[in-house]
Amino acid sequence: MSSDAPQPHFLQSHREDLHAARAELLAGLQQSPARVEPKFLYDALGSRLFDAITELAEYYPTRTETSILAQHGADIARAVAPDSVLIDLGAGSCAKAARLFGPIQPVAYVAIDISVDYLRDSLGALQQRHLGLPMLGLGLDFSTQLALPDAAQAWMAMAGAAQAPRTVFYPGSSIGNFVPAEALALLRQAHALCAAGGTGGGLLIGVDRMKSAAVLEPAYDDALGVTAAFNRNLLLNVNRALNTNFAPAAWDHVALFNAAESRIEMHLQACFEQTVGWPGGERLFAAGERIHTENSYKWMPEAFEALLGEAGFGPAQHWTDAQDWFSVFWAPL
Ligand SMILES: C[S@@+](CC[C@H](N)C(=O)[O-])C[C@H]1O[C@@H](n2cnc3c(N)ncnc32)[C@H](O)[C@@H]1O
Repeated sequence: MSSDAPQPHFLQSHREDLHAARAELLAGLQQSPARVEPKFLYDALGSRLFDAITELAEYYPTRTETSILAQHGADIARAVAPDSVLIDLGAGSCAKAARLFGPIQPVAYVAIDISVDYLRDSLGALQQRHLGLPMLGLGLDFSTQLALPDAAQAWMAMAGAAQAPRTVFYPGSSIGNFVPAEALALLRQAHALCAAGGTGGGLLIGVDRMKSAAVLEPAYDDALGVTAAFNRNLLLNVNRALNTNFAPAAWDHVALFNAAESRIEMHLQACFEQTVGWPGGERLFAAGERIHTENSYKWMPEAFEALLGEAGFGPAQHWTDAQDWFSVFWAPL
């Protein structure tokens, strides 16, 4: 890439929150059972491991959602307001949003992700392929608060998009990482984010549907062990943030379907008794004791539509695949 190649504007508010992240991690590690929020799965290596997961035969969500977006691109384009700002929550590789550029023709693209270095790289590469589209990268943890910082509003004004409708895009069924009450709170904030733009905005969101454990469990526990590596890598991220001494090889990856809660759970399970220390403290983990690292709730479309309504959105429409495995909802303001 030449040094004068256009670069996306980048704003990083995530690193400022390191203090809060440490407090959150420490509180979770001291709970019984211990827990670490799934956002800590995503450092730069975690993002690359996630991309590898999306290539696995067992991991149906990415290819299924991508096929829905491709097959129903024209309908989606008719639903979404013309000339909107596309705001991508948990953008990762930005690949899904990039596929929407053709059908919906956004006036600007705002990519938000906690995995700041990875986002910087993926957005930089995307900007080279779409030189005329103003792009903003935002390093932000939206699990505590989803709102655009003042500097992002100022950038939108500079890009001529301050009054544009906002299309908030939340793919990958990442909403499933939140327990239903938290999911509702996040959807309400997504609604407020849309409502702060021009008329015609809304939320385009991918949601994984309930299906048999025989399909669900291998998707989170693949034969090659890529998801296991993704889960264990969280311990390296925690070691960096908290100065803990977790040894990833001393923890087994566990993925199970909890039918009562309609969710896949990922855990790390201690292979033997061990003490994990950090400056000023330690915790003894018994052999077999678990750290809960991720929930992935599976929704029936009717229940998710009701949740969107409760969050303040208007009547939603949704598209699905031939097997009814995944849904993409358009929820207007
Ligand atoms: C399951 S991946 C989905 C990536 C991509 N959107 C897709 O659909 O393939 C979740 C993405 O959300 C990001 N993420 C997770 N928790 C986040 C948080 N609290 N704030 C911002 N980004 C987050 C991760 O870094 C990751 O890129």
